[in-house]
Amino acid sequence: MKRLLVVAIALAIGPRVVAQTPDSGLQAFAQMSAVLLHPRCLNCHTNGDYPTQGDDRHRHLFRVARGEDNRGAPGMRCSTCHHTANNTANSVPGARGWELAPLTMGWEGRTPAEVCARLKDPRGNGGRDLESLAAHFATDARVAWAWSPGGTRSPVSIPKETFLAAVKTWVARGAPCPNLAVQRRLRSSFSPVS
Ligand code: HEC
Ligand code: HEC
Repeated sequence: MKRLLVVAIALAIGPRVVAQTPDSGLQAFAQMSAVLLHPRCLNCHTNGDYPTQGDDRHRHLFRVARGEDNRGAPGMRCSTCHHTANNTANSVPGARGWELAPLTMGWEGRTPAEVCARLKDPRGNGGRDLESLAAHFATDARVAWAWSPGGTRSPVSIPKETFLAAVKTWVARGAPCPNLAVQRRLRSSFSPVS
């Protein structure tokens, strides 16, 4: 009987709990967006034929181009200058796998809602499900680099632990994406280009 009562109460409050969860998922995604749309990430996640640089995201020096495999044109390969770690002598940034993200992963100029949809679309995200997406955020060397970018570059705006906690919450809440109404609310809480 007691157990039945518990079940009845759980059923009664259940819908309210369900209604609340996407909202905390959306708040988590708002925190994630501040990182995803930060220049440290966008400079590689471009929508065009070349990487960008700096907080103002100007075109890369020496007219460096994307090339067919995202690793630069022949004779101007990313790896010619970028190595697996930051170069402290000449301040050229570096991390394992330094190359442009493919165009399907371009986030430049996109809204958080659009980036969210792209992140979850296995046709363009490297075939990842939510779990491997979360793993990428936690372990990829290029993602990690954005917290210690070397030179005079500023790191992304929130601590990595805060970001990874937000990713965890977002995934646990079913990875909700903002719609255009909440989008306006989110816009005021972060600045994509500083
Ligand atoms: C040096 C260039 C570079 C930087 C900087 C970089 N990325 Fe990437 N990123 C890539 C490349 C290349 C890929 C594609 C390789 C792959 O799928 O494993 C990628 C793939 C991804 C993916 C998986 C696919 C998808 O859904 O788009 C995510 C997520 C991601 N990056 C997040 C970030 C975040 C967040 C930052 C900043 C904190 C960042 N990246 C910074 C180059 C970069
Ligand atoms: C000829 C050398 C050279 C080549 C080739 C080169 N880079 Fe760079 N890259 C640099 C230098 C130097 C900087 C630092 C510039 C500065 O800080 O003023 C830089 C900076 C960057 C940054 C800026 C990071 C930030 O957030 O400000 C990104 C992103 C980048 N390169 C990506 C690439 C990619 C992707 C390729 C290949 C498609 C590439 N680079 C090819 C020399 C090179």
